Amino acid sequence: KKVALAYSGGLDTSVILKWLQETYGCEVVTFTADLGQGEEVEPARAKAQAMGVREIYIDDLREEFARDFVFPMFRANAIYEGEYLLGTSIARPLIAKRLIEIANETGADAIAHGATGKGNDQVRFELGAYALRPDIRVIAPWREWDLTSRETLLAYAESRGIPIEMKRGNASPYSMDANLLHISYEGGILEDPWAEPEETMWRWSVSPENAPDQPTYVELAYEHGDIVAIDGERMTAAAVLSRLNQLGGANGIGRLDIVENRYVGMKSRGCYETPGGTIMLKAHRAIESITLDREVAHLKDELMPRYASLIYNGYWWSPERRMLQQMIDASQAPVNGEVRLKLYKGSVSVVGRKSESNSLFDMNIATFEDDRGAYDQKDAEGFIKLNALRLRIAGRKGASFV
Ligand code: ARG
Ligand code: SIN
Repeated sequence: KKVALAYSGGLDTSVILKWLQETYGCEVVTFTADLGQGEEVEPARAKAQAMGVREIYIDDLREEFARDFVFPMFRANAIYEGEYLLGTSIARPLIAKRLIEIANETGADAIAHGATGKGNDQVRFELGAYALRPDIRVIAPWREWDLTSRETLLAYAESRGIPIEMKRGNASPYSMDANLLHISYEGGILEDPWAEPEETMWRWSVSPENAPDQPTYVELAYEHGDIVAIDGERMTAAAVLSRLNQLGGANGIGRLDIVENRYVGMKSRGCYETPGGTIMLKAHRAIESITLDREVAHLKDELMPRYASLIYNGYWWSPERRMLQQMIDASQAPVNGEVRLKLYKGSVSVVGRKSESNSLFDMNIATFEDDRGAYDQKDAEGFIKLNALRLRIAGRKGASFV
């Protein structure tokens, strides 16, 4: 028997690799993805080889991640609990998909991952895996073994001669996860929701107080709800994300410190940097503001929290998410045009929006000046009167508001 392991090359998954070999006596296939986390993925090869792994997969999934996961999610303006841009949540379904493909290619009958039994990630990996391969076996070592502390984990690693450069003391005090959309921090001092993280925790952005005194202007071009060019330069989805991360990070944009509700039922404190995503959300709403019909936009907004929860809770590969996605995608046909933004000390301001082909904004109708008959103000009288009808009936019956 054979197990396909989602392997980052870090301490935890290196221990898992060894533990799987020892505990299950099975052959392990490793899969390491480059999702734009900004760390080399190649070192994972040598580490896996050193532990006797023969089938090693290292894939650059950055473009697929941005194009087929992040961009579709941003068409919905998805945010979880009013704040979280779902940076980790949206990467898990892609990892699950590729892990299952690799299991199929190598004849593995099980998958394994390094998510704990307390979090969301286990749910996301496993719901995806079961949806894509119903008979898969799942091994989640964190739910099985007795290496319950950092110390026992390190002791296990040392006793097995596991090649890791992370040693006691200089390892990051946080549990982190990074990809093209965000970097997250949990654990350590963040477990006290009253404790402010030190400035040095943040890796992708300058603080708003240290951001430049001059604003940065940027122009985004949209086609069907997706950004296709920045300042006139056409680029791929992954390139858009990394360029916006650069611009946002340099201007102190996209830091977030929240307590969120995990699917398993506990509250958890997390800090996030999502510079590009924060810009994208603001800009997408701006281009939709002139190109979408009011009722279409409002209906999207009503469904958005449902869609965001589906992604947060791990239901990317579900029929209801697909159904919502088709509706969201269909709404984006007219979402074409340009948005101009000003980035300044942590804030993103929309300063212009236009759409040659699809703008529903009618200057002749909206003007405070003489509209020369474009809109008949007398029509408003009957409109208001009929809408007031039931209020007047109730008022006559003596309705009271106290
Ligand atoms: N709390 C966030 C989420 O559920 C981030 C999880 C980070 N995961 C990690 N393995 N460090 O999406
Ligand atoms: C973990 O528990 O593995 C990370 C946090 C989460 O999945 O929510």
